[in-house]
Amino acid sequence: MSAQVYLPYLTRITDIVEETADVKTFALAFLEEQVKETFTYRPGQFVEVSVFGVGEAPFGISSSPPREGRVEEIQITVRAMGSVTQALHRLSVGDLVGVRGPLGNDFLSVAGGGQGEEGLKGKRPLFVGGGIGLPPLRSLINYLLDRREKYPEITILYGARTPGDRVYKSELKEWAAKERIEFLETVDVGDETWEGNVGLVTELFDQIEIDPENTVAFVCGPPIMIHFVILRLLELKVPEEAIISTLERHMKCGVGKCGHCAIGHKYVCTDGPVFSYAQLRELQWQSGERP
Ligand SMILES: Cc1cc2nc3c(=O)[nH]c(=O)nc-3n(C[C@H](O)[C@H](O)[C@H](O)COP(=O)(O)OP(=O)(O)OC[C@H]3O[C@@H](n4cnc5c(N)ncnc54)[C@H](O)[C@@H]3O)c2cc1C
Ligand code: FES
Repeated sequence: MSAQVYLPYLTRITDIVEETADVKTFALAFLEEQVKETFTYRPGQFVEVSVFGVGEAPFGISSSPPREGRVEEIQITVRAMGSVTQALHRLSVGDLVGVRGPLGNDFLSVAGGGQGEEGLKGKRPLFVGGGIGLPPLRSLINYLLDRREKYPEITILYGARTPGDRVYKSELKEWAAKERIEFLETVDVGDETWEGNVGLVTELFDQIEIDPENTVAFVCGPPIMIHFVILRLLELKVPEEAIISTLERHMKCGVGKCGHCAIGHKYVCTDGPVFSYAQLRELQWQSGERP
């Protein structure tokens, strides 16, 4: 991260992909050589992105860190919601935006239970993504696919509201075509072009087999989806420590200074945004929220 935590790096938009009617993926290339040499990140981390003259908002990094060499650019996938995200959607290739980060913890450190990637040895990763929850998972999925020798078997379940709401359409096809990747997707409501599954993402669990002791599940999506997916995983006897998800909170500083993202005694921006279900249950109990 920058020595001055509030000072963004300058980046130029080098590519924009329209994923759905209200979601775009932006490639942001760092301008300064020194930043390209030193910037590193891990799947699950996020950045604060500033649209100059409008404001700043947090986004998970949706690209995967290169196996070796420097980080020339990162990608973020953004749904147009309010002032900053709509302003981002109005920008074009060549425009400049600010990037602060990388911020927060990461999937592998939480999933590895303090041992990092080592703690995942022999485990089968199971990804469950809903709608715009796929971007942070995509970073980890591609990271693991780059290391197939360690993670030969991966299961990916993806659910979207309609076929038009699916993000990364060409990448989904590539994942589905890979050997020893179990890839299943569904939409809540189909249309005349859709020949796949129709129903909630939790229904896809009926089509897979899980060895609970050897599973580590990464779950991202709308809160209601996360709730029901976690219930299903618990029913299947996946341990609470092996169910990993992310929390979204209104954030300002992103670096543990302003208190905006506090839950109980934790800051989502620095202690999270990635938590195991065991940690989430404790947090919600402390903050008085319903687990
Ligand atoms: C760690 C983290 C990672 C995120 N990753 C992504 C991502 O990869 N892609 C993406 O599209 N979005 C992501 N978000 C959400 C994104 O930050 C918000 O959509 C964005 O801040 C909205 O800013 P805005 O100025 O456009 O909207 P505003 O004008 O500030 O608000 C528009 C509406 O969105 C609601 N809102 C704003 N921020 C949040 C929030 N954090 N949680 C719930 N509701 C909110 C507001 O209450 C309001 O109703 C992430 C959030 C966090 C905390
Ligand atoms: S956003 Fe400021 S403390 Fe977390």
